[in-house]
Amino acid sequence: MTRADLLLTDCRLATMAGPEPYGAIHDGAILIADGRIAWVGPRADLPEHRTAETHRLDGRWVTPGLIDCHTHLVFGGDRSGEFEQRLEGATYEEIARAGGGIVSSVRATREASEDRLFASAMRRLEGLKATGVTTVEIKSGYGLDRDTELKMLRVARRIGREGGVRVRTSYLGLHAVPPEHRQDRAAYVDLAIDDILPAAHAEGLVDAVDAYCEPIAFSEAEVARLFDKARALGLPVKLHADQLSDGGGAALAARYGALSADHIEHSTEAGIRAMAEAGVVAVLLPGAFLMLRETKLPPIDLLRSHRVAMAVATDCNPGTSPVASMTAAITLACVQFRLTPEEALRGATVNAAKGLGLSDRIGTLEPGKAADLVVWDIERPAELAYWLGAPLLWRRYVGGLEA
Ligand code: NIG
Ligand code: FE
Repeated sequence: MTRADLLLTDCRLATMAGPEPYGAIHDGAILIADGRIAWVGPRADLPEHRTAETHRLDGRWVTPGLIDCHTHLVFGGDRSGEFEQRLEGATYEEIARAGGGIVSSVRATREASEDRLFASAMRRLEGLKATGVTTVEIKSGYGLDRDTELKMLRVARRIGREGGVRVRTSYLGLHAVPPEHRQDRAAYVDLAIDDILPAAHAEGLVDAVDAYCEPIAFSEAEVARLFDKARALGLPVKLHADQLSDGGGAALAARYGALSADHIEHSTEAGIRAMAEAGVVAVLLPGAFLMLRETKLPPIDLLRSHRVAMAVATDCNPGTSPVASMTAAITLACVQFRLTPEEALRGATVNAAKGLGLSDRIGTLEPGKAADLVVWDIERPAELAYWLGAPLLWRRYVGGLEA
């Protein structure tokens, strides 16, 4: 007799595991016990069980909770003025080099209180939750001094406690050189690596270490120093790689066994091959591609032929991707990058879990995984990619509880 707290029944399941498209089970059921999936399969095979509660889902589709594995959700202010400048022809790099860009969000983030940062991030989080997100990665990187980087990461942890989602944090101290170090970037790199990272880690605020490797940001050598430090602290790494130019970021990420290399529009075949060999997940960020009106597509065919796992994320941030909808990211990945709807949903579930190092805990509907799941008012899973901005969510469960 299987003991369960909750039975979900009369539903169609996209388990994202198994050989069928979407790992689909067309008349399925799920038993949940202690926040985890105890059993999942065709309703006809439901084992004998005793359960406290039953939810009938009237034939709706259930997927794993969506995982947004790359966001900059916590920041002060907004950059809609720069958006207007770009519409008039200025480029992202020009604005950054003229002292705008990331640095202008740094000013606003330093000024904002923790409560204020929390409240503004929660508003954006509502958009993610309404589009099925149950786990979100949140980066620092708009503080660029010790106090503000730690403040951002504390806000991220608070979102994990109070926001109705699981949170993974990434320390992104090498995001930009802050204004006070413009004349002395080496001193900032030292500070970010030898002072801020250990301080944040000591407070338990860091799940992974990220960096922005780009001519307008940090060099391969600077990033390698950071990654050496992360390794010494036992922290996994990931990288904003080859977004605006080919800077060898994909290969660098592979050399360090990174969880993921993100953006990678400009990565070469050698870089992609290195990622495949090292098992690095490619995180595709179609929101940034859209908002920057990029034209250089990420090398999707190479990723497919080298069997690199592709994840999809919003990159929610005030500069390049003011996108607070996970289903919009899925749609954009299909329309712009030509992922199939199934590839895009894998990218928002099983592959995103891999990109966060959480494959054993979330990302599929399988026994033993957390009962993070989403019930959708759709007839076919492809609708998750097809609708842009339509409300499709019916209910979310995090750890087996309605959230
Ligand atoms: O992922 N590329 C660096 N970081 C962000 C942009 C940050 C910003 O412009 O504020 C990104 O696109
Ligand atoms: Fe980013």
